[in-house]
Amino acid sequence: MPHNTLLTQSLAWKDLEIHYQQIKGLHLRDLFREDRLRGNRFSVEACGLMLDYSKNRIIHDTVTKLVSLATARNLKPAVEDMFQGKLINKTEKRAVLHTALRNRANTPIMVDCKDIMPDVNSVLDKMKLCANKIRSGEWTGYTGKPIRNIVNIGIGGSDLGPSMAYESLKYYSQRNLTIRFISNVDATHFKEQTHDLDASETLFIVASKTFTTQETMTNAYTAREWILTNMQHEEAISKHFIALSINTEAVVEFGIDATNMFEFWDWVGGRYSLCSAIGLSLMIAIGPDNFEQMLEGFHAMDCHFRETPFDQNLPVILGLLGIWYNNFFRTESHAVLPYDQYLTRFPAYLQQLDMESNGKSIDQDGRAIGYQTGPIIWGEPGTNGQHAFYQLIHQGTKLIPADFIGFCQSHNDCGDHHNKLMANFFAQTKALAFGKTGDMLMKENTPQELIPHKTFEGNRPTNTIMAVELTPYTLGTLIALYEHKVFVQGVIWNIYSFDQWGVQLGKELASNILPELNDGIYDKHAHDSSTINLMKYYLDNNI
Ligand code: F6P
Repeated sequence: MPHNTLLTQSLAWKDLEIHYQQIKGLHLRDLFREDRLRGNRFSVEACGLMLDYSKNRIIHDTVTKLVSLATARNLKPAVEDMFQGKLINKTEKRAVLHTALRNRANTPIMVDCKDIMPDVNSVLDKMKLCANKIRSGEWTGYTGKPIRNIVNIGIGGSDLGPSMAYESLKYYSQRNLTIRFISNVDATHFKEQTHDLDASETLFIVASKTFTTQETMTNAYTAREWILTNMQHEEAISKHFIALSINTEAVVEFGIDATNMFEFWDWVGGRYSLCSAIGLSLMIAIGPDNFEQMLEGFHAMDCHFRETPFDQNLPVILGLLGIWYNNFFRTESHAVLPYDQYLTRFPAYLQQLDMESNGKSIDQDGRAIGYQTGPIIWGEPGTNGQHAFYQLIHQGTKLIPADFIGFCQSHNDCGDHHNKLMANFFAQTKALAFGKTGDMLMKENTPQELIPHKTFEGNRPTNTIMAVELTPYTLGTLIALYEHKVFVQGVIWNIYSFDQWGVQLGKELASNILPELNDGIYDKHAHDSSTINLMKYYLDNNI
């Protein structure tokens, strides 16, 4: 939906600018002191997630004004356009329908006058059959041995989704299966991920929407060689390779039987593809029932996002708070800090989701943008981060809003580990919000010269997201929460969140440079002096 009014000239935006000047100096210490119920007032529960956003630098009016901004930017119709399959990815002329992949209500969703749900369901059924065959040992390799090792070859959305979700749900995985992921074109990744595997028990899943991505195809051909070297027979390919793609022709050309191909569709964006066939390695690991539980979680959050008023809507609230800091406080980055070791890859997954979606500087009307868009997303699981970069969040010169994610129950009950983890979880957001004043330090008899160093200014904003346990369902809700948060921000910034033209140039230049490296001769006229020097150094020493 085009916005002809520039965002920063809209009334809602100007109102927020004035409001920002009025409240930017307020301290969370005072806001909590003045309103004893602030913790209750700024918290929402939905889909099994509890969001406490009271430790943000906001007052009631801030939320009202941010919601008005969302309304003025036509967020509601934009959400409907996405769910209904309108061509909202205009630069690629595609619908954006990852929500159809987990449409558990099975209501018809039309693309080009055709209901896509029968196709979605039939691929899901085919995935279940395949996963069960592998899990039960019925799928045997070329020599007749059951498959025990699953290696997903893919990159970006064809890697980060399944690898993050596999790590997150490892507790639910079938432990006699080894699940590995190869993404980097660096041969080290392939070698290290396969060196201890028996080829006769190994199945490669080549995951690539386009089936043309250089890194993935290079690794896939190396895998093909590896299987052929070990099996000596071309027929082994059909037993040891599966493809997940929308490009049947390229899959067949690679030598993978079309029956071993699981399709998806161009209306599934790479970074939104976990619920499609791209999730096959995950389904093999955790089983179809758990995979479907995850889809249920996604669907619950989809419905919540579509149906709930903005001021109670988790993705909308998170999206608006992100805009509040990014555009008014002018923060540059946003930390995601999961207090659960299983979520170790969650920040990396969110990096692609958010930064590839909203790392744009041209608006939907083709104009250069004069305001900040997508933030830098980063993070590590707690408590490791506490002993590394939290110092800067607490006392550095940069304001870094952060999401803390934690669970009431651990899958791994062991002494008081979980209470210790969660004590840190609660302590950190408290310390960030309230800090420690010079007066408090004096009362503790802190030496005068140390007082400035030991003072914590506080007023560092955080969201806290909690759930009972990290189940497949919970993971689904969490991922969908962030997907829709990114959508909300994209709509408000009036950018296209579902293309990624910014990754093209590097790919093109690499394909020009590659033949020069292969031939050992560089074209002096094709490059700048820096690139020539670097290539020369490489070629001189790559002997
Ligand atoms: O990095 C660009 C990108 O196109 C991502 O958007 C995508 O997830 C990734 O490459 C992999 O693409 P494919 O699945 O087509 O191999």
